[in-house]
Amino acid sequence: MKFIRQFLRNPVETAAVVASSKRLSQLIVDRAELHQKRCVIELGPGTGAFTKEILKQVSPEALFFCLEINQEFVIETRRNCPNAIVYHASAADIKKYLNVHDRHTCDCIISGLPWALFGKELQEELLENIYDSLEQGGSFLTIAHISGLLFPPGIRFHKLLNKKFNRVHKTEIIWGNVLPGFVYHCVK
Ligand SMILES: C[S@@+](CC[C@H](N)C(=O)[O-])C[C@H]1O[C@@H](n2cnc3c(N)ncnc32)[C@H](O)[C@@H]1O
Repeated sequence: MKFIRQFLRNPVETAAVVASSKRLSQLIVDRAELHQKRCVIELGPGTGAFTKEILKQVSPEALFFCLEINQEFVIETRRNCPNAIVYHASAADIKKYLNVHDRHTCDCIISGLPWALFGKELQEELLENIYDSLEQGGSFLTIAHISGLLFPPGIRFHKLLNKKFNRVHKTEIIWGNVLPGFVYHCVK
């Protein structure tokens, strides 16, 4: 219900009527190899589907926090994942929140952002921020829905990733997700 209500209020930002499936959540988090990471940021946790899996795998010594633009989802992720630090903030503010924790860069960013619904400028701005915030060799992982690849914004996003990152890998498709999806795993 949470997702449907937020989707009706703001379809472009929310982009989904249900949370990602456990299989897709496990895929993105397994790919991130979190035991090796020292600073992990999640963008757009929604109700905390990825957050739960991240908390299971992230090292206790690592810094981990989430940035979520929708206040209702902030409350929901905090409720579902009481051990997570969740800021009510845009993904554009990564640097600001890294500074709050006396850091300038991180080594892993996991995103549930709806890139295929974002316009060109927002895609470029957010991706620039993400790239700048990652240390050399750091990983950026994001979900994508296969339906997005049929339309210009999703195709543009794929091209932007290839232009920016040293390596871009597409995982297998999780067909059991309400919108079948996969993960882009990019390395700076
Ligand atoms: C498709 S939902 C994914 C939620 C969750 N990661 C999942 O897979 O179930 C997209 C999420 O991104 C959030 N979001 C959209 N634009 C954002 C932005 N600029 N900064 C931070 N969060 C954003 C939405 O509020 C929503 O929670």
